[in-house]
Amino acid sequence: MGEFTINKEKVLQALSTVEEPDLKKDLVTLGMIQDIEVGVNQVRFTVVLTTPACPLKELIKRNCEAAIHEHLSPDVEVVINLTANVTTSRHSGPLIPGVKNVIAISSGKGGVGKSTVTANLAMALHRSGAKVGIIDADISGPSIPIMFGAQDMQPTITPKDGKNYINPIRQYGIKMISIGFLTPPDSAVVWRGPMASQALKQFFGDTDWGELDYLLIDLPPGTSDIHLTLVQTVPVTGAVIVTTPQKVALADAIKGLAMFKQPQINVPILGIIENMAWFTPEELPDHQYFIFGKGGGQSLADKFDVPLLGQIPLVQGIREAGDEGRPAVMDTNPVVNDAFRDAAESLAQQVAIRNASREKTRAVEIQV
Ligand SMILES: Nc1ncnc2c1ncn2[C@@H]1O[C@H](COP(=O)(O)OP(=O)(O)OP(=O)(O)O)[C@@H](O)[C@H]1O
Ligand SMILES: [Mg+2]
Repeated sequence: MGEFTINKEKVLQALSTVEEPDLKKDLVTLGMIQDIEVGVNQVRFTVVLTTPACPLKELIKRNCEAAIHEHLSPDVEVVINLTANVTTSRHSGPLIPGVKNVIAISSGKGGVGKSTVTANLAMALHRSGAKVGIIDADISGPSIPIMFGAQDMQPTITPKDGKNYINPIRQYGIKMISIGFLTPPDSAVVWRGPMASQALKQFFGDTDWGELDYLLIDLPPGTSDIHLTLVQTVPVTGAVIVTTPQKVALADAIKGLAMFKQPQINVPILGIIENMAWFTPEELPDHQYFIFGKGGGQSLADKFDVPLLGQIPLVQGIREAGDEGRPAVMDTNPVVNDAFRDAAESLAQQVAIRNASREKTRAVEIQV
């Protein structure tokens, strides 16, 4: 090494040659490098990722190490600490001030697996280290309480600043609220449009969400008052469209996409998740039977120039776990775990890209 000495400035210079692959800027410019320490033949620093679910974290780490070895010294030991500070799409407003990203999970057709996908994405994001919440916005057919085995739980109320706040239910590390927690299971309440919209507004405004990286909204199928209420009540980071590969589902998914893309709504589409992409028997995990058709999710994604975030197989265990009150990723089937983890990482990645590249969203103002 001779007279060449490593100092913090040289470390920063070396790391300024490393690009964040999604955001296309270098890590130093993006403010992602912190806590540089230079010791005897050792360099330590922290890389602050835009999400703990970053699918590129190992690549970024390797590239940092290579840059130090190339630009400073091949012999120095590089110790990298990875952390994350999830970026936000929101100007902090009066509602949900601690919630960084609101993500709508939507579909055109009913029964394609929105609630199942919401529950498992939430769990996968939570496992990556993110703080996650769910709003079950399906007021007339709530399924989140059952899928989390929480149907008998009741939220408590805490007065704060002269107002009563609902404390969300916390199950398996996820905060959640649903009309199912607030009404008796067999009650024959018919939620007409305005009442349902009012309930959704309360889920935002009257619930003490605290700090959340991702708040997932499990929407009812189709395009309804609830969808409008959602985009008018809070700034929505983006929407995920769930579809099966089947023609009828794809046709309806296009309507769902078109709704979010209307100029006066203008919610970015973060991507498409193809659910029930193929059938995989538990005892033959390598087999794929394309019972609802093949490639539908990809062709929809191509048509609208949005990413295909993931493909979830039809697996009996996914249905069983949901019925038994736990998201299937809590079980050990690797086919299921990998599919949801990949989809969750792709989603978190798209949120980070969106937050880096677009204006922050505002709630939509619509005169009705
Ligand atoms: N990938 C899958 N593999 C096996 N079963 C699945 C899968 N996805 C969903 N299911 C099952 O299909 C049924 C419908 O799923 P889910 O309730 O999540 O759909 P949804 O789109 O939320 O329906 P709705 O439109 O009624 O809200 C459930 O019984 C669920 O367990
Ligand atoms: Mg549902």
